[in-house]
Amino acid sequence: MDRIRIVGGNKLNGTIPISGAKNAALPLMIAALLTDETLILDNVPRLADVAQLQRILGNHGVDIMAAGKRPGDREYQGQTLHISAANIIDTTAPYELVSKMRASFWVIAPLLARMHECKVSLPGGCAIGTRPVDLLIMALEKLGAELQIDGGYVIAKAPNGLTGADIDFPKVTVSGTHVALMAAALAKGKTIITNAACEPEIVDVADCLKKMGAKISGAGTPRIVIDGVSKLHGARHTVLPDRIETGTYAMAVAMTGGDVQLAGARPELLQSALDVLVEAGATVTPNNEGIRIQRNGAGIRPVTVATAPFPGFPTDLQAQLMALMASAKGASRITETIFENRFMHVQELARFGAKISLGGETAVVDGIPHLKGAPVMATDLRASVSLVIAGLAAEGETMVNRIYHLDRGFERLEEKLSACGANIERISG
Ligand code: EPZ
Repeated sequence: MDRIRIVGGNKLNGTIPISGAKNAALPLMIAALLTDETLILDNVPRLADVAQLQRILGNHGVDIMAAGKRPGDREYQGQTLHISAANIIDTTAPYELVSKMRASFWVIAPLLARMHECKVSLPGGCAIGTRPVDLLIMALEKLGAELQIDGGYVIAKAPNGLTGADIDFPKVTVSGTHVALMAAALAKGKTIITNAACEPEIVDVADCLKKMGAKISGAGTPRIVIDGVSKLHGARHTVLPDRIETGTYAMAVAMTGGDVQLAGARPELLQSALDVLVEAGATVTPNNEGIRIQRNGAGIRPVTVATAPFPGFPTDLQAQLMALMASAKGASRITETIFENRFMHVQELARFGAKISLGGETAVVDGIPHLKGAPVMATDLRASVSLVIAGLAAEGETMVNRIYHLDRGFERLEEKLSACGANIERISG
């Protein structure tokens, strides 16, 4: 199994290109199931999760062609996928495929909307909590589907198609909003989603669906209105930049010190995280090319942060912030409100010497002047990258084991960091 070896202590200086957002690319690829015409997606990141979803869609009979580079493409530009679901040959999403990636469960929405029936295995994914799908099921039932759970599968039917309805989510859910949006796009009549997730990835998917002929207003606000149409057509759409990758590298620079341009990043996608970085002592300068992050001389100041749905501080940056605060000058309080079990990085950060105490949803991090490199291992994607950040700043050698989680969500991580001066390498085998 591959590992990453880091010798910490180097400042980061240079440019890091930001890839397309994983959490937009995945639902956008799934949305291709809604039409028998070709959906072309540009700037799709080359990630293990994207490859896995390609296999899952392939199992339904979807043809996916990855186009090569075109003249004028930027060096790091993501791939272009031509996705054609002209013939859906199988409406079953099997356990072997869905259990590897939670988002693949979302195929339930387009399959039901277009094919009026499907059988989808209950999902797997990162070990960050129980992560039920009750709200997704609730949304589909509101739209008139009959669902039954049997042998670990959700068996869904809507013999006469889906019908628009009012869907009021009792809590903000990204997955629930994606599923409701995709299903309602092809339902008969009007759907109103209230307490909808406002994440930028929801807006990106809604924008793409609109290009495909869907009638959607209000995406990006808690109230989304969809007037269902009978058919969607092909379209071309560019995946928005990854705000979590952006925030991750911004925190890495804040921790090691240095001066890095995050090329292609969009500050409005992660303003709350940038505000926290400024509070912590980093200099954040949005410019035409992206965002410039600097920290020179001064130490890291402690912060008090609670994760929240967008536009709040993202749960997907909580682990990285904790790594940063491990060497702040004082005590930080970090509260996780989205997932009940998203503190698995705490015991691994402790191997670097970090002083973190957990009480319920809140971690208190007592910053120490210098972390020390250590062998570590993580159980989810964002936790893994928090260990990389800590390793970059720690004295001596860090070995990050079980890095397949990193490959699920970070494109060419070690290449991007070593280009900015980090001493980091992948060790195969
Ligand atoms: C998405 O997960 C992201 N995944 C997650 O990123 C991210 O952490 C999360 O949104 C929150 O921003 C993708 O986009 C592929 P939710 P999702 O539905 O959609 C509860 C990463 O590292 N809930 O907004 O699964 C749930 O348990 C990943 O890239 C129910 O109770 O998150 C959680 O507590 C990790 N019932 C809360 O809602 C349901 O039916 C928010 O979940 C659905 C969710």
